[in-house]
Amino acid sequence: MSTMSPLLIPAALVTRLRVARRLVVLTGAGISAESGVPTFREAQTGLWARYNPEELATPEAFRGNPQRVWEWYAWRQERVRQAEPNAGHYALVEMERRVAEFVLITQNVDGLHRRAGSHQMVELHGNLFRVKCFDEDRPVENWPESADIPPRCPHCGGLLRPDVVWFGERLPVSALQAAEQAAATAEIFFSIGTSALVYPAADLPFTALAAGATVVEINPQPTPLSPHVTFSLNGPAGAILPGLVEQVWGSASGVGGSGP
Ligand code: APR
Repeated sequence: MSTMSPLLIPAALVTRLRVARRLVVLTGAGISAESGVPTFREAQTGLWARYNPEELATPEAFRGNPQRVWEWYAWRQERVRQAEPNAGHYALVEMERRVAEFVLITQNVDGLHRRAGSHQMVELHGNLFRVKCFDEDRPVENWPESADIPPRCPHCGGLLRPDVVWFGERLPVSALQAAEQAAATAEIFFSIGTSALVYPAADLPFTALAAGATVVEINPQPTPLSPHVTFSLNGPAGAILPGLVEQVWGSASGVGGSGP
């Protein structure tokens, strides 16, 4: 674990965390920012600088120009392959080890939580490294070699697309139900690195609040959720989370802040 963070965690929160049995965490793109993965609402770089993600991550964009959307995802996959989980991801792995019941709900499609070692997870918006058929909506693992971009579905010949939830699409029902159930039964609920703008994920902290949970936000910027939370920790997740874990549970049990 990295050296102790200078950011002090409120004593009342430390006390509550020490006795809590059930923690639920919601993460967004901000937790991967310190791994060098750009967040959704910041400007893109390089080839894609002139595109707005909200104009690429939609079924309409795919219908209009499937090749462009596929190539954008190929570029994002490559960036994520080159990235490593950061101290914030590892602190959440440590948290999972320390509490009796723990659920990590993520809006991220980058798979960095799993690479860090988190287990009890709900991926709300799918995964960048899985593919499904655009027409049939079924997952596809292998497809015939060809020069087609996007490649074609081996079952129906339709176009293949990334298995992520695009703007205007429904979330996978089982994932959403698991997330709602977790939020409704949390003792302490963390909202980390999310702009709290995209529904239904943005409802989850309010579900937790309504059920009487302590809600903690970790974000360097205020969000629409900020006025409602019990504790607001203003700063980057990669600095705050390791310090919080250390203050609550003492020094870590072998999860490296700098990666394996
Ligand atoms: N630590 C914590 N939070 C951070 C950090 C950091 N180091 N850096 C940035 N943030 C915060 C930003 O202040 C912002 O509030 O992370 C948030 C990122 O917001 P978005 O880019 O909107 O990402 P997210 O909330 O995950 O978006 C939700 O929208 O585009 C869709 O499906 C996509 O899952 C995504 C969803």
